[in-house]
Amino acid sequence: MPGIIDWNELWKATHTRGFIHHDEDLAAHWDRRAKEFNKRVMKHREKAERQVAQLGLQPHETVLDVGAGTGRLAIPMAKIARSVTALDQSGGMLNCLKENMQSEGISNIQCIQKSWQDVGLDEIPAHDVVISSNSLGVYDLLDALVKMDRLAKRAVYIFTFTDHHRDDGFREFLMNEKRPQNAFQPAGYLMIYNLLADIGIYADIKIQDWESREHYSSIDDAVASWKTMHEIPSENEPKLREFLSKKLIEDDQGLCIHRSTKQAMISWQKSPQTTA
Ligand SMILES: C[S@@+](CC[C@H](N)C(=O)[O-])C[C@H]1O[C@@H](n2cnc3c(N)ncnc32)[C@H](O)[C@@H]1O
Repeated sequence: MPGIIDWNELWKATHTRGFIHHDEDLAAHWDRRAKEFNKRVMKHREKAERQVAQLGLQPHETVLDVGAGTGRLAIPMAKIARSVTALDQSGGMLNCLKENMQSEGISNIQCIQKSWQDVGLDEIPAHDVVISSNSLGVYDLLDALVKMDRLAKRAVYIFTFTDHHRDDGFREFLMNEKRPQNAFQPAGYLMIYNLLADIGIYADIKIQDWESREHYSSIDDAVASWKTMHEIPSENEPKLREFLSKKLIEDDQGLCIHRSTKQAMISWQKSPQTTA
C-alpha cells in the first residue's frame, strides 16, 4: 500500500531509460559486452565466494539466480547447493556462463533465457533461495520483488550498488560523455527497501565496501575494454585515453585501476524469525 511516496512510481520515473524497451535494449546491451564482462568479473573469484558465503547455503538447497549473467555467483553457489537455476535475458551472457560451467566441470546449473518481467509464477518452481545481484533491470519493481518473494522458500537476497556515484568519478565522466547529468536521482536501493516495507516485507539491509582491481596489459588494452563495457563512441576515445592514463597505476601484476564503492545487501527470511 503506497504512502505519501509511491516508491514503485518513483522507480519507474527514474529507471525508464534503458528499461522500458528492455526486452530488446537491455538484452542486446548485455549481449554486446558479455565477453568483456566475463573476462573482467570471473577473475575475482575470492570476492564472489565472499558474497556467496553470506547466503548460508546448504547442500540440499536450490537457488534461483535472477540476472545470473556469466555465472560469477551461480558457479560458486552451484559448488555448495544442490542446484542453481540461472535466469538471464541475455543469450550472450548465458553462453559465457555455459562455457564457464564446462571449464569448471559443473553440471547442476540450469539456464533459462528470459526476462524476469516475462516469467509467470507458475513457470518456475519455488526455490529455497532467490537472489539478484546488480541485475534488477526491470520497469515494474513491485512486480519483480513480489515474484522474487513468492518464488523463495527460505530467503531472498538482493545485492545492489548504493548509488550512481559508485566509482569515484568514473561514472560522472562517462555520464558526461553519454547523457546530460541528472542533477537529482534518489538511490535505487532505498526505493527497493521502502517499497518492500510498503508491502509488509521488513528487510535487513547491510552496506558493504566493494573494492576491485582491474588489470590491463597496456593503455590500449584498457581503452579497448572500457570502450566496449561502457559503449563509448569512437570520437570520445582520446578523452577516455587521457582519463584512463591518469587513473592507471603500476603494480606487481601490470597496469591497474583500483575502484571502490559501496554495495547494499537487502535480504529477508521467509519463515518467521523469533527472538528470545
Ligand atoms: C551487471 S550483470 C550482473 C550479473 C551477475 N548477477 C553478477 O553479479 O555478476 C547484470 C545481468 O543481469 C541481467 N538482467 C538485468 N535485468 C534483467 C531482467 N529484467 N531479466 C533478466 N535478466 C536481467 C543482464 O542481462 C545481465 O546479464
